[in-house]
Parts: sequence; structure tokens; C-alpha cells
Amino acid sequence: MSETSTVFVTRKIPDAGLELLRQAGVELVIGQEDEERGLDRQALLDGVARCDVLLPLLTEPIDRQVLAHNPRLLGVAQMAVGYNNIDVAAATELGIPVANTPGVLTETTADLTWALLMAVARRVVEAHAYMVAGRYKLWGPNLFLGSDVGTGASGRRKVLGVIGYGRIGQAVARRSTGFDMEVLAYDPYNRDGIARDPIAAWADFEELLERSDFVTLHVNLTPETEHLIGEPELRRMKESAFLINAARGPVVDERALVRALQEGWIAGAGLDVYEDEPRMAPGLAECSNAVLLPHIASASHDTRSRMATMAAENALCHLRRQRAPNAVNPEVYDSGAYRRRAGG
Ligand code: GLV
Repeated sequence: MSETSTVFVTRKIPDAGLELLRQAGVELVIGQEDEERGLDRQALLDGVARCDVLLPLLTEPIDRQVLAHNPRLLGVAQMAVGYNNIDVAAATELGIPVANTPGVLTETTADLTWALLMAVARRVVEAHAYMVAGRYKLWGPNLFLGSDVGTGASGRRKVLGVIGYGRIGQAVARRSTGFDMEVLAYDPYNRDGIARDPIAAWADFEELLERSDFVTLHVNLTPETEHLIGEPELRRMKESAFLINAARGPVVDERALVRALQEGWIAGAGLDVYEDEPRMAPGLAECSNAVLLPHIASASHDTRSRMATMAAENALCHLRRQRAPNAVNPEVYDSGAYRRRAGG
């Protein structure tokens, strides 16, 4: 790593990550200091052209043009576990390793999934708004009736349906044991894991939709999972069921979801992500049976700091021409295209 190595951090990340890079003698360029503004395309291209390693967030599209803009670029170290904003196939072809921050945000994301589930089932946000508006005048037996998450007075075990049974889906399932729920899981890439799992039982996709009281999504966004939940799937769910999405917005057809919420095909939804983020589909904001959060699933102080240091560690691996342990395209290291870049 030369003394003049530069990492282009597209937008401000927690200090711990910046500090790690500074201590390693890296020159840091931050593309956008204002946390409420994005980085425009030209500034992204200019930053990429001048750096050795790019450290982006999920808000920047890192497409082929961006990746090809700098023939000396040694790697991409994204501060996020999801990397659907990056054209990984193009990066691999161009010999650029791409790394992410898996693992460290699993528990925090599972916590927020449960916060959404509880909030929408028990109408916490509606009830809070009622309180702060000064509308609470008299206790009443019909005030804000919601749905049980545990067995409640019915004695019926509620069914949690987890779609995508990777690290986060499993952490969500683990949290259900205190509620004595039945857990169904669907994940074509983890059939064996589900078969061995002490908590969840395998269910086909349709069966899971039909039987679950809560359907929670934990899949990556890929061409196969885009609009995985659309009108037919929402209509297949129970009218009393809730949909929770803390994965990626485009996994759900948001316009169909708005109709489902308005017309009562399902009882409610808890969303942390949106199809065209930060915009919401028309009508969604007016749905009182939706709890809506601004993509904060991994937003705890500790987790975001750790994500930042992990991204910084990945960036240092790229600069030192070492294999990044979290590379999502590790095959790139064996390619001539990588060797030409790294040797240059
Ligand atoms: C957040 O959405 C992430 O992918 O880390």
C-alpha cells in the first residue's frame, strides 16, 4: 500500500471506520458531507476516477460505467450487507473485488423486524399518535384492538412464516420462541438447513403464505426475488395476516400492497424498505394499518460503527492487495483482470 493511497467514501460513515482508515495512513475523500443529500452522478464518477478504493453506501448505483471509470480501481468496500446496487458481474469481469459487511447486523436487523411486527399487530404507532394528539379522554374496552402475537386468549399458536432462511431469517425465528409460535420457513437455497433447524419447519411458498399469521421477508434482492410478493401472493395470505419487509423494497409489489391494505386483503404491513426508496407508492402513507420506517433495520450505534469498521477493513485489504474475507466475488482473485489491476 503506497502512502498516497486514497479511499473515496461516497457519503459520511460512522467515525470508527474513518478513523481506522486515517490511522492506516490512507487519504480519505468524502463525496458528500451533508447527511440529507445524496451524491450526484458526476461527483461519484469524479471521486471514483481519483481513488484507489471505493467505499460506497447502498444509495449509490455502482454500475458498469462507474466501475470502468478507473482502470486502477483496486476494489469496492460497501458499508451494507446487501449489494444489489452494485453490478457485481461487471466488477468481476473488470477484475474488481467487491466486499460487503455480513454478520454484524444480523441481530440488530432481527430486532427491528420484531419491532415492526409487534408495532403493527398491536397498533403501537396509531396509539402513540392518538396520545400525542391529546385524544385520549377515557379508557374503553374497544380502544385500539389489535392482534395477538403469542397465543393470547384464543390459545391458538400463531404461525410465523419466514421467507429467506439465511442469517437474518434464522435470527428472526429464534426470537419467536418466547411467543410459542409455530415457525414455517421457505428458502430454496437452504432446504437442508431448514430440515435440520430446531425451530422452523419447511413449507412450500404457497403453504407458508396461506398458513402464516405473520409473513416476514429476508431474501436478497435478485431478479428471482423482485416482486416475489405481488397481488396473487397477497390475496393468498389470510385476511388477518401481516406482512413484514426489512429486506429490500422491490421484493414486494408496493402498489399491490397498497391495494391489499386499503381493501383488507391482509390486516397490515410493517415496512422498513420501499420499492423506489425514499419515495413511497401513492396511498401507502395514508394506510393506518401500515407501520413505515426509513430503512433503519441495522441502525444501532454499535452495529453501524462495526459496519463502518468492517467496510474500512475490507478497503484496507483491497489497498494491500489481500483477499478481503467478505468478498462477494472471491473468484475474481484468480482472474487475469484482477492480477493486471493489482500488479499495476
Ligand atoms: C441494509 O439494508 C444493508 O444491506 O446493510
